[in-house]
Amino acid sequence: MAQIRIQNVRKEFGAFTAVRSSTFTIEDGEFFMLLGPSGCGKTTTLRMMAGLELPTSGEIFIDGEEVGMKPASQRDIAFVFQMFALYPHMNVRKNISYPLVSQGMKREAVSARVADVARILRIEHLLDKPVGGLSGGDRQRVALGRAIVRRPKAFFMDEPLGALDAEFREHMAEELRALHDRMGATTVYVTHDQLEAMQMGDKIVVMNHGVVEQFGKPQQIYDWPATKFVAQFIGSPSMNFLDFEGMIGIGGDSVELGGVKVHVPAAREGRAGRLTLGVRPEHVAFRDDAPYRGRVSAVEYLGTTQIVTLSTEHGDVKARISSGQAVREEELVGLDFDARTLSLFDAESGKVLISEGNEGVLAHG
Ligand SMILES: Nc1ncnc2c1ncn2[C@@H]1O[C@H](COP(=O)(O)OP(=O)(O)OP(=O)(O)O)[C@@H](O)[C@H]1O
Ligand SMILES: [Mg+2]
Repeated sequence: MAQIRIQNVRKEFGAFTAVRSSTFTIEDGEFFMLLGPSGCGKTTTLRMMAGLELPTSGEIFIDGEEVGMKPASQRDIAFVFQMFALYPHMNVRKNISYPLVSQGMKREAVSARVADVARILRIEHLLDKPVGGLSGGDRQRVALGRAIVRRPKAFFMDEPLGALDAEFREHMAEELRALHDRMGATTVYVTHDQLEAMQMGDKIVVMNHGVVEQFGKPQQIYDWPATKFVAQFIGSPSMNFLDFEGMIGIGGDSVELGGVKVHVPAAREGRAGRLTLGVRPEHVAFRDDAPYRGRVSAVEYLGTTQIVTLSTEHGDVKARISSGQAVREEELVGLDFDARTLSLFDAESGKVLISEGNEGVLAHG
Protein backbone atom coordinates (compact mmCIF):
# COMPACT_ATOMS: atom_id res chain seq x y z
CA MET A 1 0.00 0.00 0.00
CA ALA A 2 1.37 3.39 -0.89
CA GLN A 3 0.64 7.04 -1.39
CA ILE A 4 2.68 8.52 -4.23
CA ARG A 5 3.28 12.25 -4.53
CA ILE A 6 4.80 13.99 -7.53
CA GLN A 7 5.99 17.51 -6.95
CA ASN A 8 7.18 19.87 -9.70
CA VAL A 9 8.68 16.94 -11.55
CA ARG A 10 10.38 17.81 -14.80
CA LYS A 11 12.19 15.68 -17.36
CA GLU A 12 14.41 16.89 -20.15
CA PHE A 13 16.02 14.73 -22.82
CA GLY A 14 18.74 17.02 -24.11
CA ALA A 15 17.02 20.15 -25.40
CA PHE A 16 13.59 18.48 -25.42
CA THR A 17 11.30 18.75 -22.38
CA ALA A 18 9.19 15.60 -22.09
CA VAL A 19 7.53 16.46 -18.74
CA ARG A 20 7.04 20.02 -17.48
CA SER A 21 6.56 20.60 -13.82
CA SER A 22 4.05 17.90 -12.94
CA THR A 23 2.35 17.95 -9.56
CA PHE A 24 -0.27 15.47 -8.34
CA THR A 25 -0.92 12.96 -5.57
CA ILE A 26 -1.98 9.33 -5.88
CA GLU A 27 -3.70 8.25 -2.69
CA ASP A 28 -3.15 4.89 -1.07
CA GLY A 29 -5.27 2.22 -2.73
CA GLU A 30 -6.36 4.30 -5.70
CA PHE A 31 -6.69 3.05 -9.24
CA PHE A 32 -5.03 6.00 -10.89
CA MET A 33 -4.95 6.75 -14.63
CA LEU A 34 -2.29 8.67 -16.54
CA LEU A 35 -4.17 9.71 -19.68
CA GLY A 36 -3.09 11.64 -22.75
CA PRO A 37 -2.22 11.42 -26.44
CA SER A 38 0.86 9.71 -27.80
CA GLY A 39 4.10 11.43 -26.84
CA CYS A 40 2.60 13.53 -24.01
CA GLY A 41 4.95 12.07 -21.39
CA LYS A 42 2.93 9.33 -19.71
CA THR A 43 5.55 6.60 -19.89
CA THR A 44 8.28 9.01 -18.87
CA THR A 45 6.25 10.07 -15.82
CA LEU A 46 5.62 6.45 -14.84
CA ARG A 47 9.27 5.50 -15.32
CA MET A 48 10.36 8.36 -13.04
CA MET A 49 7.96 7.18 -10.33
CA ALA A 50 9.32 3.67 -10.71
CA GLY A 51 12.93 4.82 -10.53
CA LEU A 52 13.78 3.73 -14.07
CA GLU A 53 14.40 7.32 -15.12
CA LEU A 54 15.81 10.20 -13.07
CA PRO A 55 13.84 13.47 -12.99
CA THR A 56 15.77 16.52 -14.19
CA SER A 57 14.24 18.37 -11.24
CA GLY A 58 11.43 17.99 -8.72
CA GLU A 59 10.60 15.41 -6.11
CA ILE A 60 8.83 12.07 -5.87
CA PHE A 61 7.55 10.80 -2.52
CA ILE A 62 6.37 7.29 -1.73
CA ASP A 63 4.57 7.15 1.61
CA GLY A 64 6.08 10.51 2.51
CA GLU A 65 9.64 9.45 1.80
CA GLU A 66 11.55 11.21 -0.95
CA VAL A 67 12.74 8.45 -3.29
CA GLY A 68 14.66 10.45 -5.89
CA MET A 69 17.93 8.68 -5.18
CA LYS A 70 16.46 5.24 -4.60
CA PRO A 71 16.95 2.76 -7.41
CA ALA A 72 13.94 0.97 -8.86
CA SER A 73 14.78 -2.25 -7.01
CA GLN A 74 14.34 -0.52 -3.65
CA ARG A 75 11.03 1.19 -4.40
CA ASP A 76 8.99 -1.98 -3.97
CA ILE A 77 6.93 -1.44 -7.09
CA ALA A 78 5.80 -4.02 -9.64
CA PHE A 79 5.91 -2.89 -13.25
CA VAL A 80 3.52 -4.67 -15.60
CA PHE A 81 4.62 -4.08 -19.17
CA GLN A 82 2.53 -4.20 -22.29
CA MET A 83 4.45 -7.21 -23.52
CA PHE A 84 3.88 -9.85 -20.93
CA ALA A 85 7.12 -11.78 -21.10
CA LEU A 86 6.84 -15.21 -19.51
CA TYR A 87 9.50 -17.88 -19.27
CA PRO A 88 8.31 -20.26 -21.99
CA HIS A 89 10.20 -23.31 -20.72
CA MET A 90 8.62 -23.12 -17.24
CA ASN A 91 5.10 -24.04 -16.21
CA VAL A 92 2.66 -21.55 -14.70
CA ARG A 93 3.60 -22.33 -11.09
CA LYS A 94 7.31 -21.81 -11.78
CA ASN A 95 6.66 -18.59 -13.66
CA ILE A 96 4.71 -17.15 -10.76
CA SER A 97 7.12 -18.45 -8.12
CA TYR A 98 10.18 -17.11 -9.86
CA PRO A 99 10.39 -13.63 -8.26
CA LEU A 100 10.11 -15.16 -4.77
CA VAL A 101 12.51 -18.03 -5.41
CA SER A 102 15.09 -15.62 -6.77
CA GLN A 103 14.70 -13.57 -3.56
CA GLY A 104 15.57 -16.72 -1.63
CA MET A 105 12.18 -17.20 -0.01
CA LYS A 106 11.56 -20.57 1.67
CA ARG A 107 9.73 -23.24 -0.27
CA GLU A 108 6.60 -23.50 1.93
CA ALA A 109 6.20 -19.72 1.99
CA VAL A 110 6.49 -19.62 -1.81
CA SER A 111 3.86 -22.35 -2.21
CA ALA A 112 1.46 -20.54 0.07
CA ARG A 113 1.91 -17.26 -1.77
CA VAL A 114 1.49 -18.88 -5.19
CA ALA A 115 -1.67 -20.67 -4.05
CA ASP A 116 -3.01 -17.36 -2.81
CA VAL A 117 -2.29 -15.58 -6.08
CA ALA A 118 -3.75 -18.41 -8.14
CA ARG A 119 -6.94 -18.17 -6.11
CA ILE A 120 -7.18 -14.38 -6.54
CA LEU A 121 -6.64 -14.70 -10.30
CA ARG A 122 -8.76 -17.85 -10.57
CA ILE A 123 -6.04 -19.83 -12.32
CA GLU A 124 -5.61 -22.70 -9.82
CA HIS A 125 -6.38 -25.22 -12.55
CA LEU A 126 -3.54 -23.92 -14.72
CA LEU A 127 -0.68 -24.10 -12.22
CA ASP A 128 0.93 -27.24 -13.62
CA LYS A 129 0.40 -26.42 -17.28
CA PRO A 130 3.17 -25.16 -19.57
CA VAL A 131 2.70 -21.49 -20.46
CA GLY A 132 3.21 -22.27 -24.15
CA GLY A 133 -0.29 -23.63 -24.66
CA LEU A 134 -2.17 -20.92 -22.77
CA SER A 135 -4.65 -18.49 -24.32
CA GLY A 136 -3.79 -14.77 -24.43
CA GLY A 137 -5.98 -14.00 -21.44
CA ASP A 138 -4.51 -16.78 -19.34
CA ARG A 139 -0.99 -15.66 -20.20
CA GLN A 140 -1.92 -12.18 -19.09
CA ARG A 141 -3.25 -13.54 -15.80
CA VAL A 142 -0.04 -15.50 -15.24
CA ALA A 143 2.02 -12.38 -15.90
CA LEU A 144 -0.12 -10.46 -13.44
CA GLY A 145 0.35 -13.29 -10.98
CA ARG A 146 4.08 -12.89 -11.25
CA ALA A 147 3.72 -9.18 -10.51
CA ILE A 148 1.37 -9.50 -7.54
CA VAL A 149 3.09 -12.46 -5.87
CA ARG A 150 5.77 -10.15 -4.47
CA ARG A 151 3.09 -8.06 -2.74
CA PRO A 152 4.61 -4.79 -3.81
CA LYS A 153 3.49 -1.42 -2.48
CA ALA A 154 2.14 -0.40 -5.86
CA PHE A 155 1.52 -1.65 -9.39
CA PHE A 156 2.51 0.29 -12.45
CA MET A 157 0.95 -0.67 -15.77
CA ASP A 158 1.87 0.92 -19.07
CA GLU A 159 -0.93 0.34 -21.59
CA PRO A 160 -1.17 -3.30 -20.48
CA LEU A 161 -4.12 -4.03 -22.74
CA GLY A 162 -2.83 -2.15 -25.78
CA ALA A 163 -2.16 -5.21 -27.89
CA LEU A 164 -5.54 -6.85 -27.36
CA ASP A 165 -8.61 -6.76 -29.58
CA ALA A 166 -11.53 -4.62 -28.42
CA GLU A 167 -13.72 -7.31 -26.90
CA PHE A 168 -10.99 -9.04 -24.96
CA ARG A 169 -9.62 -5.70 -23.90
CA GLU A 170 -12.89 -4.76 -22.28
CA HIS A 171 -13.03 -8.09 -20.50
CA MET A 172 -9.46 -7.77 -19.16
CA ALA A 173 -10.14 -4.17 -18.12
CA GLU A 174 -13.03 -5.35 -15.97
CA GLU A 175 -10.90 -8.12 -14.56
CA LEU A 176 -8.03 -5.79 -13.69
CA ARG A 177 -10.39 -3.41 -11.95
CA ALA A 178 -12.00 -6.29 -10.02
CA LEU A 179 -8.56 -7.60 -9.07
CA HIS A 180 -7.63 -4.18 -7.79
CA ASP A 181 -10.83 -4.02 -5.74
CA ARG A 182 -10.00 -7.39 -4.15
CA MET A 183 -6.39 -6.46 -3.35
CA GLY A 184 -6.67 -2.73 -2.73
CA ALA A 185 -3.09 -1.97 -3.83
CA THR A 186 -2.28 1.41 -5.33
CA THR A 187 -2.28 1.04 -9.10
CA VAL A 188 -0.99 3.54 -11.65
CA TYR A 189 -2.22 2.79 -15.13
CA VAL A 190 -1.14 4.49 -18.34
CA THR A 191 -3.54 4.76 -21.26
CA HIS A 192 -4.31 7.00 -24.22
CA ASP A 193 -7.89 5.69 -24.30
CA GLN A 194 -10.26 8.14 -22.62
CA LEU A 195 -13.03 5.56 -22.30
CA GLU A 196 -10.72 3.12 -20.54
CA ALA A 197 -9.61 5.89 -18.20
CA MET A 198 -13.18 6.94 -17.41
CA GLN A 199 -14.37 3.36 -16.86
CA MET A 200 -11.50 2.09 -14.73
CA GLY A 201 -10.05 5.04 -12.86
CA ASP A 202 -10.77 6.42 -9.42
CA LYS A 203 -8.80 9.47 -10.49
CA ILE A 204 -7.29 10.65 -13.75
CA VAL A 205 -4.40 12.90 -14.65
CA VAL A 206 -4.80 14.30 -18.16
CA MET A 207 -1.50 15.22 -19.81
CA ASN A 208 -0.70 17.03 -23.04
CA HIS A 209 2.75 17.97 -24.37
CA GLY A 210 4.34 17.15 -21.01
CA VAL A 211 1.88 19.33 -19.10
CA VAL A 212 -0.62 18.14 -16.50
CA GLU A 213 -3.82 19.75 -17.79
CA GLN A 214 -6.11 18.45 -15.08
CA PHE A 215 -6.24 16.03 -12.19
CA GLY A 216 -9.47 14.73 -10.66
CA LYS A 217 -12.25 12.18 -10.56
CA PRO A 218 -13.63 11.02 -13.93
CA GLN A 219 -16.92 12.83 -13.51
CA GLN A 220 -15.26 16.03 -12.34
CA ILE A 221 -13.05 16.00 -15.43
CA TYR A 222 -15.96 15.27 -17.74
CA ASP A 223 -18.34 17.82 -16.24
CA TRP A 224 -15.85 20.57 -15.44
CA PRO A 225 -12.89 20.38 -17.81
CA ALA A 226 -10.16 22.80 -16.74
CA THR A 227 -8.93 23.41 -20.28
CA LYS A 228 -10.15 23.17 -23.85
CA PHE A 229 -7.72 20.35 -24.41
CA VAL A 230 -9.33 18.22 -21.68
CA ALA A 231 -12.80 19.16 -22.91
CA GLN A 232 -12.12 17.91 -26.43
CA PHE A 233 -10.01 14.90 -25.41
CA ILE A 234 -12.69 13.43 -23.14
CA GLY A 235 -16.12 12.58 -24.50
CA SER A 236 -17.32 11.37 -27.87
CA PRO A 237 -18.40 13.21 -29.90
CA SER A 238 -16.25 15.94 -28.40
CA MET A 239 -17.54 19.01 -26.64
CA ASN A 240 -18.66 21.67 -29.13
CA PHE A 241 -16.59 24.86 -29.11
CA LEU A 242 -18.25 28.11 -30.16
CA ASP A 243 -15.67 30.87 -30.57
CA PHE A 244 -16.89 34.43 -30.25
CA GLU A 245 -15.84 37.93 -29.35
CA GLY A 246 -17.35 38.82 -25.99
CA MET A 247 -16.91 39.55 -22.32
CA ILE A 248 -17.78 38.33 -18.86
CA GLY A 249 -17.08 39.87 -15.44
CA ILE A 250 -16.08 38.02 -12.26
CA GLY A 251 -19.23 36.33 -10.97
CA GLY A 252 -21.01 37.05 -14.28
CA ASP A 253 -23.40 34.34 -15.43
CA SER A 254 -24.22 35.13 -19.04
CA VAL A 255 -22.50 35.92 -22.31
CA GLU A 256 -23.78 37.31 -25.58
CA LEU A 257 -23.40 34.89 -28.44
CA GLY A 258 -24.29 36.35 -31.84
CA GLY A 259 -26.74 38.76 -30.22
CA VAL A 260 -28.33 36.03 -28.09
CA LYS A 261 -27.97 35.99 -24.31
CA VAL A 262 -26.70 32.61 -23.09
CA HIS A 263 -26.66 31.77 -19.39
CA VAL A 264 -23.53 30.07 -18.02
CA PRO A 265 -22.36 29.04 -14.53
CA ALA A 266 -20.82 31.94 -12.58
CA ALA A 267 -17.40 33.07 -13.82
CA ARG A 268 -14.39 32.78 -11.52
CA GLU A 269 -12.35 35.09 -13.72
CA GLY A 270 -13.42 38.00 -15.85
CA ARG A 271 -12.34 38.31 -19.48
CA ALA A 272 -12.98 40.43 -22.55
CA GLY A 273 -11.89 39.29 -26.01
CA ARG A 274 -11.93 35.92 -27.74
CA LEU A 275 -13.99 33.49 -25.68
CA THR A 276 -15.03 29.90 -26.32
CA LEU A 277 -18.35 28.52 -25.18
CA GLY A 278 -18.14 24.77 -24.56
CA VAL A 279 -21.30 22.68 -24.99
CA ARG A 280 -21.48 18.89 -24.73
CA PRO A 281 -23.62 17.33 -27.50
CA GLU A 282 -26.01 15.82 -24.94
CA HIS A 283 -26.70 19.28 -23.52
CA VAL A 284 -28.05 20.73 -26.76
CA ALA A 285 -31.84 20.55 -27.07
CA PHE A 286 -34.10 21.66 -29.91
CA ARG A 287 -36.75 24.22 -29.02
CA ASP A 288 -38.80 25.99 -31.64
CA ASP A 289 -38.73 29.38 -29.93
CA ALA A 290 -35.02 29.34 -28.93
CA PRO A 291 -33.41 32.39 -30.54
CA TYR A 292 -30.05 30.75 -31.28
CA ARG A 293 -30.53 29.02 -34.64
CA GLY A 294 -28.82 26.26 -36.54
CA ARG A 295 -29.47 24.42 -39.81
CA VAL A 296 -29.37 20.62 -39.82
CA SER A 297 -26.56 19.48 -42.08
CA ALA A 298 -26.21 15.79 -41.13
CA VAL A 299 -27.95 13.15 -39.05
CA GLU A 300 -26.20 10.06 -37.75
CA TYR A 301 -28.41 7.33 -36.32
CA LEU A 302 -26.90 5.48 -33.33
CA GLY A 303 -29.77 3.36 -32.00
CA THR A 304 -31.19 5.00 -28.89
CA THR A 305 -29.71 8.38 -29.79
CA GLN A 306 -28.81 10.25 -32.95
CA ILE A 307 -26.06 12.77 -33.55
CA VAL A 308 -27.36 15.79 -35.41
CA THR A 309 -24.84 18.21 -36.95
CA LEU A 310 -26.03 21.80 -37.25
CA SER A 311 -24.34 24.70 -38.95
CA THR A 312 -24.50 27.87 -36.93
CA GLU A 313 -23.04 31.33 -37.07
CA HIS A 314 -20.18 30.02 -34.90
CA GLY A 315 -19.42 26.84 -36.78
CA ASP A 316 -20.73 23.28 -36.61
CA VAL A 317 -22.52 22.12 -33.47
CA LYS A 318 -23.26 18.47 -32.75
CA ALA A 319 -26.33 17.54 -30.71
CA ARG A 320 -27.05 14.14 -29.23
CA ILE A 321 -30.81 13.73 -29.07
CA SER A 322 -33.25 10.87 -28.78
CA SER A 323 -33.71 8.87 -31.97
CA GLY A 324 -37.45 9.23 -31.45
CA GLN A 325 -37.24 12.93 -32.26
CA ALA A 326 -37.92 13.64 -35.95
CA VAL A 327 -35.24 15.73 -37.68
CA ARG A 328 -34.98 16.68 -41.34
CA GLU A 329 -31.82 17.74 -43.14
CA GLU A 330 -31.76 21.43 -44.08
CA GLU A 331 -34.35 22.18 -41.36
CA LEU A 332 -33.75 25.36 -39.34
CA VAL A 333 -34.07 24.74 -35.58
CA GLY A 334 -33.74 26.73 -32.35
CA LEU A 335 -30.96 25.48 -30.05
CA ASP A 336 -31.29 25.49 -26.30
CA PHE A 337 -28.13 24.97 -24.22
CA ASP A 338 -28.46 23.61 -20.70
CA ALA A 339 -27.02 26.56 -18.75
CA ARG A 340 -25.79 24.60 -15.72
CA THR A 341 -23.58 22.37 -17.85
CA LEU A 342 -21.82 24.92 -20.05
CA SER A 343 -18.11 25.64 -20.01
CA LEU A 344 -16.54 28.96 -20.91
CA PHE A 345 -12.88 29.25 -21.85
CA ASP A 346 -10.42 31.95 -22.68
CA ALA A 347 -9.96 31.16 -26.38
CA GLU A 348 -6.26 32.04 -26.36
CA SER A 349 -4.99 30.25 -23.25
CA GLY A 350 -7.66 27.54 -23.38
CA LYS A 351 -8.25 27.87 -19.64
CA VAL A 352 -11.73 27.61 -18.16
CA LEU A 353 -13.22 30.81 -16.71
CA ILE A 354 -16.12 29.42 -14.73
CA SER A 355 -15.74 28.05 -11.24
CA GLU A 356 -18.48 25.52 -10.61
CA GLY A 357 -17.10 22.12 -9.68
CA ASN A 358 -13.61 23.38 -10.33
CA GLU A 359 -12.46 23.86 -6.76
CA GLY A 360 -9.33 21.83 -6.21
CA VAL A 361 -8.93 21.24 -9.89
CA LEU A 362 -5.41 21.81 -11.04
CA ALA A 363 -5.35 23.94 -14.16
CA HIS A 364 -1.77 24.28 -15.19
CA GLY A 365 -0.29 27.78 -14.92
N1 LIG B 1 15.09 8.41 -23.85
C1 LIG B 1 14.54 9.40 -24.55
N2 LIG B 1 15.31 10.25 -25.25
C2 LIG B 1 14.77 11.28 -25.96
N3 LIG B 1 13.44 11.53 -26.02
C3 LIG B 1 12.63 10.71 -25.35
C4 LIG B 1 13.12 9.61 -24.57
N4 LIG B 1 12.07 8.97 -24.01
C5 LIG B 1 10.98 9.64 -24.42
N5 LIG B 1 11.30 10.68 -25.21
C6 LIG B 1 10.36 11.65 -25.81
O1 LIG B 1 9.60 12.22 -24.78
C7 LIG B 1 8.24 12.38 -25.19
C8 LIG B 1 7.34 11.68 -24.22
O2 LIG B 1 7.55 10.29 -24.37
P1 LIG B 1 6.70 9.22 -23.58
O3 LIG B 1 7.17 7.88 -23.99
O4 LIG B 1 6.71 9.52 -22.13
O5 LIG B 1 5.24 9.48 -24.17
P2 LIG B 1 3.91 8.66 -23.96
O6 LIG B 1 2.89 9.63 -23.47
O7 LIG B 1 4.15 7.47 -23.13
O8 LIG B 1 3.52 8.27 -25.45
P3 LIG B 1 2.91 6.90 -26.06
O9 LIG B 1 1.40 7.00 -25.84
O10 LIG B 1 3.24 7.01 -27.50
O11 LIG B 1 3.53 5.76 -25.37
C9 LIG B 1 8.16 11.85 -26.62
O12 LIG B 1 8.23 12.94 -27.49
C10 LIG B 1 9.38 10.97 -26.74
O13 LIG B 1 9.84 10.95 -28.07
MG1 LIG C 1 4.06 5.43 -23.52
